[in-house]
Amino acid sequence: MKIIESAKEMQEWALSHRAKGQKIALVPTMGSLHEGHLSLLREGKKLCDQLVLSLFVNPAQFGPNEDLKQYPKDLKGDLHKAQDCQVDVLFLPTTSDIYPENFQTYVDVTELAQPLCGASRPGHFKGVATVVLKLFNIVQPHVALFGEKDFQQLRVIEQMVQDLNLPVEIKPMPIVREADGLAMSSRNKKLSKEERQASLTISLSLAKAKMCVDQGERDPQKIKEAVQATLEETKKITIDYIQLCHPKTLQPLPLLTLPALLAIACFVGKTRLIDNCILR
Ligand code: PAJ
Repeated sequence: MKIIESAKEMQEWALSHRAKGQKIALVPTMGSLHEGHLSLLREGKKLCDQLVLSLFVNPAQFGPNEDLKQYPKDLKGDLHKAQDCQVDVLFLPTTSDIYPENFQTYVDVTELAQPLCGASRPGHFKGVATVVLKLFNIVQPHVALFGEKDFQQLRVIEQMVQDLNLPVEIKPMPIVREADGLAMSSRNKKLSKEERQASLTISLSLAKAKMCVDQGERDPQKIKEAVQATLEETKKITIDYIQLCHPKTLQPLPLLTLPALLAIACFVGKTRLIDNCILR
């Protein structure tokens, strides 16, 4: 596995492999890799000739009171996992290479970035879209893989690709969960034993919503109340939002139309976790 730290060198590598007719897959991450990330890498390997993993904790997508400094890091573990997944290039840019002094160009996907996490994390998706566009320009991938765990992020990127005519295929990947249902996340490492136990109610609340819909419930308010009641079974959880929305526009649904996205964000102690499912 080749390790590249400079954006210029990464771009030269990409252009030379493109010139040879090779297909490049990119999996952008912030590291502290888990099975969710690895599922994207394994699929990327199948789809293309060259697999690039980028690992960059992007300061532009963290708010001033968020966990940028405490974001979990495990470079040694990540190197092993990347090698196991047969990553061809590990791209490890520095912050000053991505955001040099005098950096001033940002991407704003205006509507999709507003609801859900956009409302509680102002500027977050502007930071995400900007870094992902930069990564696309540097790595020049034919295919880029994103997890449905971050459903709004996936939609923002799909919209950016469409709006800006970017020549890259976005491959959405299903949520990978722990055996007990908790969606895998780098932030799960920050949970205490009690918080880890409490976090189970998140996936349980999604299952509860699915059950309500299966039993014929069509009132979004009732479904949200059932989710809330399940989450409130533990005192360790503070709800940020529970929202039923259109899976493409992410606009709230006053009346339930299926398929619908049920999206949840909550704090378990100080750790913010998100999860979602599509109700059919
Ligand atoms: P990060 O949280 O490291 O996630 C990298 C990719 O892994 C994202 O596409 C995310 O949706 C996917 N992923 C995370 N947990 C997953 C799970 N349990 N199942 C399936 N896929 C999962 O998302 C980011 O980094 C950043 O915002 C980034 C796109 C790299 C831009 O900085």
